[in-house]
Amino acid sequence: MIPRCLLHPISVKQLRQGHPWVTLDAYSRRFPTDSSMLIGLDDKKMEVGTLLHDPRHKTVRARLWSKERGYPEKNFTQDLELRLIKAREKRLSLESFKNRENRYWCFAEGDEIPGLMVLQLGERFIIQFYALLWNDHKELLKKLLLKTFPEIDEKKLWLQARSEDGSGQKSPTLWDETPKSEQFIIHENDIRMHVRLGESYDYSVYSDMAAVRYALRPIFQKSKRVLNLYSYTGAFSLLALKLGAERVVSVDLSAKYLAWLEENLLLNDFQGEHASMKTSTENALKDLINKKEQFDFIICDPPSSSSDGQKRTSALQSYEVIWNNLQKLLAPEGLLLSFLNTHTVSMPKFEKHLRGLEDNRLQIQKKYHLMDDCPTIKGFHEGNYLKGILWK
Ligand SMILES: C[S@@+](CC[C@H](N)C(=O)[O-])C[C@H]1O[C@@H](n2cnc3c(N)ncnc32)[C@H](O)[C@@H]1O
Repeated sequence: MIPRCLLHPISVKQLRQGHPWVTLDAYSRRFPTDSSMLIGLDDKKMEVGTLLHDPRHKTVRARLWSKERGYPEKNFTQDLELRLIKAREKRLSLESFKNRENRYWCFAEGDEIPGLMVLQLGERFIIQFYALLWNDHKELLKKLLLKTFPEIDEKKLWLQARSEDGSGQKSPTLWDETPKSEQFIIHENDIRMHVRLGESYDYSVYSDMAAVRYALRPIFQKSKRVLNLYSYTGAFSLLALKLGAERVVSVDLSAKYLAWLEENLLLNDFQGEHASMKTSTENALKDLINKKEQFDFIICDPPSSSSDGQKRTSALQSYEVIWNNLQKLLAPEGLLLSFLNTHTVSMPKFEKHLRGLEDNRLQIQKKYHLMDDCPTIKGFHEGNYLKGILWK
């Protein structure tokens, strides 16, 4: 029998509105610690849903598994298998998924498998746990993954677990948790990139943006001069060059990431010229204005929060500082794509903030969110962290 537990009225409301988490509160603190599943009840003892219990997680204590009344515990394995099959089939029907080797086969809550991601990087599959509860189902998961994904080679199965001390994601390891680091090359449509797996949390490409990059191809095909701000290892710069840009400028503060970008450039054939600027975006913009440069397409993807050693700056504050100069660098018909990568600011708030910037002369053309292999669910803002606004 699955234990029945009263939920905080706010959890009840949120679960009913589509938010699939129960966070730590006076009610969830009292959930029986020895149970992996719970039935959540409202104050009238009505069932709200069956939850996967995560008693060791610092903040997210339970995640919605089913809204079916009287959900039988014995159905868990079969339903997990069905959800994995569904996640895989969904991907196989996606155009943007076909021609790349960095892609998500399962995107946690977006695929109704809470806290579990299945990421492919080249021939390796990395199973990412965002919930600690999956540590208790490792054997079952491996069995089901090998059964439902013919693409997975057991010897190339990796694990990225979450640390029990609350410090977040660990570095990826082999599935049996043997540490290993590997460097290899993957392709994403026409571009090739190095991946560094196992060195740290950061493996040198953002796979959750691959579908957005695919959606941006028509813009890149028309853009001769491209500026990639906060370029990291250069995925956007490589795409621009590959799709015919004549000049691409990449700006990043990090010498390490720009060195990786240079290595990525060597993997790809293209005609255009590329320049790296190892400096802050703020300084790079002033320099480019002094040189009277103009760009047909500017991509701006600041970190959600950064520090220069003295003060912390949020992405919204960065936009306040740079917006006017971004406009000066845009060619008359040029496009600017502003990203924000945090769930703490909603799209309406992001849009309002940028629209309200002094002397904003640009008009919104289109908005971007996580898409395709990175599905999100309505009402779950933590899952919908990526926002992009295209301006002209
Ligand atoms: C969110 S990542 C960008 C990801 C990239 N757009 C992509 O899709 O691959 C942020 C990058 O900004 C760089 N960075 C942080 N502060 C910066 C600043 N003030 N000026 C330039 N780059 C900065 C970091 O080194 C990091 O590579």
